[in-house]
Amino acid sequence: MTTGRFISLEGIDGAGKSSHLDSLAGAIRARGVEVVVTREPGGTPLGEKLRALVLREPMEGTTEALLMFAARREHLVRVIEPALARGAWVLSDRFSDATFAYQCGGRGLDRGVFAALQSLVHPNRSPDATFLFDLDPDVALERQRAQGRDPDKFEREAAAFFRRVREAYLERACEEPSRVRVIDASGSLEDVRARLALAFAQAFP
Ligand code: TYD
Repeated sequence: MTTGRFISLEGIDGAGKSSHLDSLAGAIRARGVEVVVTREPGGTPLGEKLRALVLREPMEGTTEALLMFAARREHLVRVIEPALARGAWVLSDRFSDATFAYQCGGRGLDRGVFAALQSLVHPNRSPDATFLFDLDPDVALERQRAQGRDPDKFEREAAAFFRRVREAYLERACEEPSRVRVIDASGSLEDVRARLALAFAQAFP
């Protein structure tokens, strides 16, 4: 039986990962496979409602992690697993590494709690490859300001928060170097696109 591949994109806010979703989806489609582009928190009707809450409402850190994982469970069962089972490739804008980075790194959530939730929600599934867009938080904040969008709860956090998030992401990459591939997200969109294309070709030769 053929099964698809599961890819996640990660990085701090403003690192630019979302700008590369479409080109990456196009590169995968060019291989003649179905691609499902999705995101977290979100990806299902209930997940999108949880997203609206968690991105706007102030809440305690464990509550935040529980809602992220609740949305993830729906996403996994209703979207990700069925797509992989029919041979599609799933490209998700964020997955559990984001909870590790933002809730453990950023907010100080206990890592044991994270590990317990992860093994409850997706004991047998993790991305086949994760592309981590790595950027200095000061540069990322500047990029976000230049976009002029109304910032959500996370985007309003200070640079020190994003420094902790970035460190936690890099820790993940050190722990699992064959899954988490770090992309230098500095420089022009074209530069970053070229680095991503190279990393993609290495991950899926
Ligand atoms: P993001 O993916 O950056 O979307 P947009 O480009 O529309 O802003 O926003 C999602 C936010 O949610 C981001 O700030 C990171 C945060 N987040 C967590 O804190 N934990 C998680 O587990 C996930 C999936 C996201």
